[in-house]
Amino acid sequence: MNQDQDQLKAAVGQYAADFIERQLDAETLVGVGTGSTANHFIDSLAKIKHKFKGAVSSSLASTHRLAAHGIEVFELNDVNELLVYVDGADEANDKLQLIKGAGGAHTREKIVASVARQFVCIVDASKIVGRLGVFPLPVEVIPMARSAVSRELVALGGKPVYREGFVTDNGNMIVDVYDLDLTEPVSMEREINQLTGVVSNGLFAVRPADILLVGDKNGIQEKRA
Ligand code: 5RP
Repeated sequence: MNQDQDQLKAAVGQYAADFIERQLDAETLVGVGTGSTANHFIDSLAKIKHKFKGAVSSSLASTHRLAAHGIEVFELNDVNELLVYVDGADEANDKLQLIKGAGGAHTREKIVASVARQFVCIVDASKIVGRLGVFPLPVEVIPMARSAVSRELVALGGKPVYREGFVTDNGNMIVDVYDLDLTEPVSMEREINQLTGVVSNGLFAVRPADILLVGDKNGIQEKRA
């Protein structure tokens, strides 16, 4: 990542913290994503930590960063509802459908996003695409099912590549799938999630973002589907 891209990530992370600040109160829990853009958001959130109750995290890495800032982290099982979930993405289209999971955290990210009233996605402009699928689609699989699932992914037209040496926070493996036809991301998300042995895939199309904040050289653009 070059310095310019990191500055854009920092800018959009700060913008997201400002964006949600007016909605915060002493009872608010904020859902927090994973990755370098989410890290910038966590750092900005820390500056206003006295304005909300705490966070629900989507990964061990984000949990550590939140705790290091003195932000209390709550278990999702102890929480009924989240005001907002803020996270980055690897690709985003104009319907606010996403590919996520380069960090291998997409299953927990999807779970936390699913209980949030609003999903705010934060990206630098390099993540915006006309059509999803240039970035390989991460699929989290139960370890013993890796080869079986990979054969099914080939049958769907993809080229699965095992992410060697990587274990998810859930103790599973990741297969990155190249060359899938993602013209219909909603049906592809559902179809891959139906494969026996798949935990979840990195398409966020059934439940896309509600708001997309994009950092480019002119500032931050707010997009809604
Ligand atoms: C992790 C993710 C990240 O949100 C995604 O990979 C974007 O990461 P970054 O902000 O570092 O570019 O889905 O599983």
